[in-house]
Parts: sequence; structure tokens; C-alpha cells
Amino acid sequence: MEKGSIQQMLEEKGFIDEKIDDNIDLVQEILRLKKEKNAVILGHFYITPELQDISDYLGDSLGLAQAAKETDADIIVFLGVHFMAETAKILNPDKKVIIPDLMAGCSLAASAPADKFAAFKAKYPDHKVISYINCTAAIKTLSDVICTSSNAEKIVNSFPEDQPLIFAPDKNLGNYLNSKLGKEMVLWDGACEVHEKYSLEKIVALMDEHPEAEFIAHPECEKPVLMVAKYIGSTTALLNYVQKSDAKEFVVATESGILHQMKKACPDKVFIPAPSIDSTCGCNDCAYMKLNTLDKLYTALKYEQPELNLSAEVIEKAKEPILRMLEISL
Ligand code: 13P
Ligand code: SF4
Repeated sequence: MEKGSIQQMLEEKGFIDEKIDDNIDLVQEILRLKKEKNAVILGHFYITPELQDISDYLGDSLGLAQAAKETDADIIVFLGVHFMAETAKILNPDKKVIIPDLMAGCSLAASAPADKFAAFKAKYPDHKVISYINCTAAIKTLSDVICTSSNAEKIVNSFPEDQPLIFAPDKNLGNYLNSKLGKEMVLWDGACEVHEKYSLEKIVALMDEHPEAEFIAHPECEKPVLMVAKYIGSTTALLNYVQKSDAKEFVVATESGILHQMKKACPDKVFIPAPSIDSTCGCNDCAYMKLNTLDKLYTALKYEQPELNLSAEVIEKAKEPILRMLEISL
């Protein structure tokens, strides 16, 4: 393909390649553009500290869905990953939803292609489907209700005891819920590549070096890792836990972005990212979340691109299970 046509293709997809003037104060410009355009910046705990600090609302997946539902801004700029921005669009079909990098996907969402999941679901006609919010809009259209790691137990318990259930796409969260709640949900075989990379061996060795530390983990981690955790919870739950706990040191098994908020909330405590199997790579970082940068946020706001769009049909079908989740979570 010729260079010109690649450029054209990228531009059509909302890719902006602008050399930003070094003299621009990006933060000030972003704040100015945001006000001028009545835009709101929603950010997830896993983005970089500088982006966390510029977000109007910072939270976990549930909080972000709730904030997206409540906003009266004209433009939503989503600093997170694709499925989160999709959720915001589904809840706000008439608003413009912008994501600084359209390539900010999610390995867990990608582990459940809609056609394969539809075939899987067809094998269990009596089952209701609970889908973790980390899935594509297409999977949401095939679901009865959505959940996040903050409300998963409540959502599972909202069904009658004898209702057979499918849980998708995260097998680790599904396994955790099955053992905690004594359920036998049928699990889709998906996982997050960040949370599956923690090394139990290295965690145990690290805990030996820090005997006073508490080990806390996100339920997307694998079972053996969860088995040694003192506390398991969503990003918000982990953040609340470190503030309540008497411990002064924590080893944290979830994406390292959350450590910024933990350090802000507890400046006298020590937070150590849990080690992953390959310590030479930034495995504790979600590469997709980290595609969001200040430069891209600035150009996204300036050009209102790339814009996230979904068909009216997908929006209508995917909205129902999300609204059901929000109702149950009240
Ligand atoms: P939370 O719902 O805890 O924010 O988790 C989102 C996520 O992507 C975890 O990997
Ligand atoms: Fe997806 Fe994992 Fe990144 Fe969360 S940490 S957004 S589940 S790839």
C-alpha cells in the first residue's frame, strides 16, 4: 500500500498525527478546550498519573458507567479502553464520545469473539448470561445482565437459586464467584493478559521479604494468586481497603496505575506492585490503558476525534443489560 493511502486510511479512522508545539501548556489548553466545548473527561484508575489528575471523574468500571449515565456534558472524552467508551456511548447515544486512541482495546474483551460466544450460548438454552463489563458491545447484546468486579456478587445473587447461569468472558472472576457463592456457573474461557501474569512464586518470596505487608488482589487474577490474598476486590474496593487497613505496607496485584491513588490517599503507607512472571517487561501495566497520553488527549479534544460510534441496533440491544446492572447496583 502506498504511504499516501495509509495516511488517508488512518485519517478516516480518526488518527491524528500532529506535531504539537513545544510551547503549548497542554494541561491549560486541555482545560480551556474542555470548557469551551462543554466536554467531560472520564478516566479509569489504570491511566497514567498525569491523566488521572486531569480527569473530571476518576473511577472503576462501575463508577465510570454511572458517571457516563449522569453527565450533562455534550462531549465525553474517555480515558480508558474501548469497551468502557462503548458503554458510555450506549448510555448516551446522542452525545459525542471520544477516545484518544482507538487502538486502546482490552485483551479480556478480545478473548470473547461474538460469533464464537453466540455458538457457545446456543448450547445452553436454559441459561441466563451474566457478562463482565470487560466485553465488546456485541457480547453485551447477547447478555441478560452486565456486571463489574464491584457488583458481581450482587448481580449473581439477583438470580433465583435454581436459575442456570453462564458467566463471561473472565474465567478467573467466574471461578472466584463460583467458589465464593457456591455456584456452578458455566464459564467462558477468557482472561486478562495483565492479571494472568502475576507470579505466585515471586509474590510469596516478596511477602517473605516484607512480613508485615498485606497482599491484596483484583479478582481477575488466577486462583492460586487469589488464594494467598488477604483481600480481593475491584479497583475501588482495593483503594478503600488500603485506607481502612492498619497495615503500613501492601503488595498490590492489579494494574500499577491504581498505586497513584493509593499513594495519594495514604502518603505514609508503602505500595509495592506484585511481581509478574517476566520482570523485564512492564507486565503490570495494561498496554492498552497506557496508549492514552496527554498529547493524544489534547488533539482528541481539539479535533473531537477519534469518535466512537456504534449502530443504533447494537446500542438498543446492549443498553438493556447495562441498565439492568445499574438498577441492581443502586
Ligand atoms: P475495575 O472494574 O475494578 O475498575 O476493573 C477494570 C479492569 O479493567 C480490570 O482489569
Ligand atoms: Fe483489559 Fe486487562 Fe487492561 Fe483491564 S487490565 S483493560 S482487563 S487488558
